[in-house]
Formats: sequence, C-alpha cells, structure tokens
Amino acid sequence: MSVGKRLEGKTALITGAARGIGFEFAKAYLREGARVAIADINIERAREAVTQLGESAIAIEMDVTKQDSIDKAVEDAAKAFDGIDILINNAALFTAAPIAEITRQDYDRTFAVNVAGTLFTMQAVAKHMIARRKGGKIINMASQAGRRGEGLVAVYCATKAAVISLTQSAGLNLIGHGINVNAIAPGVVDGEHWDGVDAFFAKYENKAPGEKKKEVGASVPFGRMGRAEDLTGMAIFLATPEADYIVSQCFNVDGGQWMS
Ligand SMILES: NC(=O)c1ccc[n+]([C@@H]2O[C@H](COP(=O)([O-])OP(=O)(O)OC[C@H]3O[C@@H](n4cnc5c(N)ncnc54)[C@H](O)[C@@H]3O)[C@@H](O)[C@H]2O)c1
Repeated sequence: MSVGKRLEGKTALITGAARGIGFEFAKAYLREGARVAIADINIERAREAVTQLGESAIAIEMDVTKQDSIDKAVEDAAKAFDGIDILINNAALFTAAPIAEITRQDYDRTFAVNVAGTLFTMQAVAKHMIARRKGGKIINMASQAGRRGEGLVAVYCATKAAVISLTQSAGLNLIGHGINVNAIAPGVVDGEHWDGVDAFFAKYENKAPGEKKKEVGASVPFGRMGRAEDLTGMAIFLATPEADYIVSQCFNVDGGQWMS
C-alpha cells in the first residue's frame, strides 16, 4: 500500500532540532511534505542541518529560556511560512546527580529549558494558532523519566513529569480552539544526548564509558536502545487529522519499557 504525503502543505516549528530526535523529526516531516523551521540555541548546527535538509527547511536561532527569543522565533517562523500548523517542543537538557549533590544552578537551568521553555513556547505558538483560527497540533517531548523517579536523575525526571502535566492542562484548555496538545515519552534513545547520559552514569556508578548504554539497551523488552527514527511515526501521526480526537495524552514509544 502506498501512503501519500501526510503533512503536505503543513508547516512546523521544531525546537532543539539541530541534532538528535528533533533533527530526525524534521527529516520525517519534510518527507511527508511539510515545511520545517529548525529552531535551536545552536544556530551553527541548525544551519548545517538545513543544508542537509534542503529548501523546505529554515534555521531559526532560538533560546527557549528567553521570552524575547521565543516571541521572535515564533514570529519569524510564522512570517516565513505564512503561519504555523505544528509545534514540537523538543529542546531539553539532561542532568543527573545524587540528591545530596544537586545544585540550585543546575535545577534552575534544567527547569528553565525543559519546563518553562516548553510552557512559554507552547503559549506563544498557541496564541498565534488561536489568532489564526485554523487550529493546530502541539507535541511535547516528555520521557519515561517523567513516569517515575530515578535515584540519580531527580531533577530531569521532575521536569519531564511537569511536561506530562502541562500537556494535560494545555490540551484541555486549547482543544476548544481546535489545537491538540499531546506528548511523546521516549525510553532510551541512542545519540549524542545519551552519550552525555552515559558519561553521568560512568561518573556516579563507576562504569566504563559505554557500559550504561549496553545495560539499558539489554533491559529494553524490544531488545535494543531506541533510535530517533523509532519515534517519527508517532510524531507524524499526532500531527495529522487522524489524531484530531486525541487530547492531552502522553504516548510511550519505548520498546515496551513502560506501561501506562
Ligand atoms: N535521547 C533520549 O534517550 C531521550 C529519552 C527520552 C526523552 N528524550 C527527549 O527527547 C527530546 C530530544 O532529545 P535528544 O536526545 O534529541 O536531545 P539532544 O540533546 O540531542 O538535542 C537537544 C537539542 O536541544 C537544543 N537546546 C538545548 N537548550 C536549548 C535552548 N535553551 N533553546 C533551544 N534549543 C536548545 C540543543 O542545542 C540540541 O540541539 C528532549 O526533550 C529529550 O528530553 C530523549
């Protein structure tokens, strides 16, 4: 069965899309006919991404911790594309430490990106979508880390639990405007992000580099760590009209790691 382009004519703003899962989402959306704004604090990497992705992609410098930057990025994307249909709130930081070693600075930094960044980007795009009166789709990147705590990962887990909660409230508040807000909770997805996670565990659990990755990969019921492309099907589906009746949900795409 051949499937037509499911996002033809749509436009998307994807935060943190210069690399990793966001970059893979951008590739998948472009394949499905969308135009995509790669919005990232790392503008050089975002520009490199765009040279790989072609002319339906644009790079936008955006720091989701700064309101001016959020407002400008949303305005620039809306202007470039004549409106935004889809937002993926994907930018995030990871951090880990035992409770006794968590610093206020790290807490503030991680919450500023993962929680306030998600909320105020969602707000700016929702305002645009409400004014435009064409509805829209908002997808927030949660995590299995938001489903339960982890001894060394208290702050990151708390940020992702907050993303799940914000998705629920925003979904209820915005569906009256035809805006669906849902979330995706990945499990463990290999890439540069997990290189950093592996390094944290190497430090706190005295592991050799790469050991934690092997352990977590073996613990996934599917039999391996996730790949960014494992998540693209859900990200496309949630942006299509087939998902119109789905409101405030968080979907686990994690090879069977979490059931809820
Ligand atoms: N990789 C995993 O195992 C995994 C698991 C569960 C959830 N997630 C979530 O999926 C999303 C993508 O993860 P990833 O693995 O691709 O991460 P990543 O670290 O590879 O990419 C994150 C991107 O966000 C950008 N960014 C960081 N701070 C920013 C800011 N202030 N403003 C704008 N952009 C900023 C970075 O430059 C980077 O391009 C994140 O929300 C992450 O928490 C990842």
